[in-house]
Amino acid sequence: MSVLIKGGRVVTASDDYVADVFVDGERVSLIGESLELDADRVIDARGKYLLPGCVDPHTHLDMPFGGTTTIDDVESGQTAAAFGGTTCHVDFCIQGKGQTFADALAIWHEKAAGKQLIDMGYHIAVTDLSGEGALEELARLPDQGVTSYKLFMAYKGALMVDDETLFRTMEVAAKTGALVMVHAENGDAIDVLVKQALAAGHTEPRWHALTRPPETEGEATNRAIQLARVAGSPLYVVHVSCKESVEPIAAARAKGWEVWGETCTQYFFIDDTFLERPNFEGAKYVYTPPPRDKANQDVLWDAVRTGVLSAISTDHCAFSWDGQKSLGRDDFSKIPNGGPGLENRLQMIHHFGVREGRITLNRMVELLATSPARLFGLYPRKGTLAVGSDADIVVFDPEKRVTISAANHHSRIDYNLYEGTEVVGSPEVVLLRGHVLLEGGELVASPGIGQYVARAKFGQELTGTGRAVPA
Ligand code: URP
Ligand code: ZN
Ligand code: ZN
Repeated sequence: MSVLIKGGRVVTASDDYVADVFVDGERVSLIGESLELDADRVIDARGKYLLPGCVDPHTHLDMPFGGTTTIDDVESGQTAAAFGGTTCHVDFCIQGKGQTFADALAIWHEKAAGKQLIDMGYHIAVTDLSGEGALEELARLPDQGVTSYKLFMAYKGALMVDDETLFRTMEVAAKTGALVMVHAENGDAIDVLVKQALAAGHTEPRWHALTRPPETEGEATNRAIQLARVAGSPLYVVHVSCKESVEPIAAARAKGWEVWGETCTQYFFIDDTFLERPNFEGAKYVYTPPPRDKANQDVLWDAVRTGVLSAISTDHCAFSWDGQKSLGRDDFSKIPNGGPGLENRLQMIHHFGVREGRITLNRMVELLATSPARLFGLYPRKGTLAVGSDADIVVFDPEKRVTISAANHHSRIDYNLYEGTEVVGSPEVVLLRGHVLLEGGELVASPGIGQYVARAKFGQELTGTGRAVPA
């Protein structure tokens, strides 16, 4: 199968030019002016952007958490992703206590079997290193394409690890070429604050934010940075939400330390007042770290513009309001933590980031595709539009008007964080390795087309022998 895409504006992290793109099989084989080639399919992209398929480095599909399981499985989550121009993501495979990493990965591969619409890899979430041979098994994972270790410094009594587990994992990563990822919040302090709030009779959703103050995120971010420095491992801080966490990342990066940070779409748009919405509506915004005060939104835009933060993910962790969030109707600590967003990241960041002048188009591509691909061992097969790259291409109509709503999104969740938001700019055609996934507002591919991607070790390219220098 060959595809010729004519006259689009090719936008990568560094370039912006009008060209024709020829796809032969699954890879981009030629980019040039006025290509006259026979192709099975010709797409007219005049007036459209040609973007590399977006890469989401942070999702939770079909994940047991908070007494329930996220409502999007691999098929529904990846359908939402495809509609949003995301063609590859890295999901979290969670090690159960006492479980081997191999067993955890087998379960996660089984969840995806036959359901994949886009490409995906796994991070391993380490929860327990007490098993015999656990450290050795962890050390072998990068050779199997699982090249990032995630640790939760919060969720006491559930996923949280102690500093010994965190530090030992960092030591393994320093030797094996894995990137350490942390959910940085001080889980012990938060646990005390939650117990005190409940004892005082505070049960409403807004207490989710009041018991997780920004300082608890800042403290854990700084602790992780210092420990990674001692262990000699690279570090990636997920879902950075506030100044208290941005500052230690900025300081570490200014010193040239191997530290990167990500924020998520929702932190630019949802503030802590959303949690106060009446009739339990606030529960829709119970995710962790919590929505912060509005001033932090400018801090985050500055951080992504200036390179202090390197990626924007979604942390898609969808729980329906009716039936799942409602588990915590009488106790905010029982509301499953997580929000949706896989489908709307590109639309929201394009409209409010690029169109409103906060970041450039090139920087948007870098934040949503190139940097995540580089950091997580997917580049240059993913994350850019170049000869030899996978033909994961978004034909993006920069003038298309869309009203974001649960009524038209593709996730199974019963609400949308950005309900009613009008944006200009949306994917029109999406290709995955040369196969058309989406066109005319319809999904035209079937589950099974997506593949598992064994990722390269930290700092290395997925193809060839080059070094992917992370942003
Ligand atoms: O609330 C959130 N973010 N849920 C997903 C798990 C995590 O902490 O990333
Ligand atoms: Zn987290
Ligand atoms: Zn998450």
